[in-house]
Amino acid sequence: MNAPKVKIMSVVGARPNFMKIAPLVHELARFPDRFDHLLVHTGQHYDATMSDAFFRDLTIPAPDVHLEIGSGSHAEQVGRTMIAFEKVVQQHRPDWVIVVGDVNATCACSITAKKEHVKLAHIEAGLRSFDLEMPEEINRMVTDRLSDLLFTTDALADANLLKEGVPENRIRRVGNIMIDTLERQRARAAALKPEAIAGEQVLPGLCAPIPPLRDNTFAVLTLHRPSNVDQAVVMKPLVEFLTQDVAPLMPLIWPVHPRTRQQLERHGLWKDLTSCPGLILTQPLGYHDMLRLTMGARVMLTDSGGLQEECCVLGTPCLTLRWNTERPVTLVEHGGVSVLVGNDVQQIRAEFRKAAERPRAEHRPPLWDGRTAERIVACLRELGQGLSL
Ligand code: UD1
Repeated sequence: MNAPKVKIMSVVGARPNFMKIAPLVHELARFPDRFDHLLVHTGQHYDATMSDAFFRDLTIPAPDVHLEIGSGSHAEQVGRTMIAFEKVVQQHRPDWVIVVGDVNATCACSITAKKEHVKLAHIEAGLRSFDLEMPEEINRMVTDRLSDLLFTTDALADANLLKEGVPENRIRRVGNIMIDTLERQRARAAALKPEAIAGEQVLPGLCAPIPPLRDNTFAVLTLHRPSNVDQAVVMKPLVEFLTQDVAPLMPLIWPVHPRTRQQLERHGLWKDLTSCPGLILTQPLGYHDMLRLTMGARVMLTDSGGLQEECCVLGTPCLTLRWNTERPVTLVEHGGVSVLVGNDVQQIRAEFRKAAERPRAEHRPPLWDGRTAERIVACLRELGQGLSL
């Protein structure tokens, strides 16, 4: 007799989740006789550019359940997600809930699943910045503490979990699932032209001519962390550096996150940016456009976790505009490409010059090979509904 099917409910909420769930969804679909899979979107990100575009471009099927949580304070987002997700878990009674990354949806659905006595698996477990002012750090700690099965990206993550007392047999080092998506999509991205991307995505009303954008002649910037964008005293010198130091030296493409734009307008800095020659402000980019720009950038300036990892595999010098990182494997001292520069402009200026001179150097940590989803699904097939951990 065939083994009963394993009922899996996976969760996404915000943009960085979509590139992590796509390979899992596709791999689970290869075993229709083993798995029943339901995809839940909490709706933390809901704009076409922040959500729908990724479902389309990464061929993720439409979510089976959409919770439509939307924006709000952390407590509002987490609270609303828990209330809505509880009903979904009670209705479908999955064998496993699988969460990815570290956004509010990850934490909210982990707590709910465990309170409903459903087994929980976390993809991208064990990352620690040790900075509890970062909301994602709280999400990571809570999620990992509750998870039955912890899929990690690298040995440093395993070590963090072991130090916290997680039993070794619950930790499965499988590599970085986001790199599965990168490998699957890179040929399509490579065929795009940076100038065409900038021309098509530049914010409406900003129609200054796009300068030539040959590979290794432009910089790319992304910024969205509250620690960087919420206070004018931090944001103002950063904007001065970008407009006075970077843009006159090389074209700078800046896909602007919705929360960053709101803050820039609030601080009265938006006008300075829109009138700066060499600075190309665009709407949030789709996956392939962003990947293409990352492949061609001479320097990436970012406070995103995912981009640090993508730069690492692509060899793009990366200045991480944070004082710490939960992804130390991407740092230069671990053989990667990223340097922590915080938000101190003097330090950023000095490191920017160095990074612009540094040759591209790809660094691929072990198991970041495009086959992480295969390893995760192999593990789920082996465990089935039971949990002999
Ligand atoms: C969230 C994640 C962060 C991730 C980031 C990627 C948490 C705690 N943070 O931060 O880890 O790196 O997503 O983008 O989960 N907004 C829109 N449209 C949208 C979504 C948001 O306009 O589709 C605006 C809203 O005004 C919202 C603000 O952006 O208030 C911030 O969105 P939110 O989801 O709260 O957090 P992010 O800063 O995007």
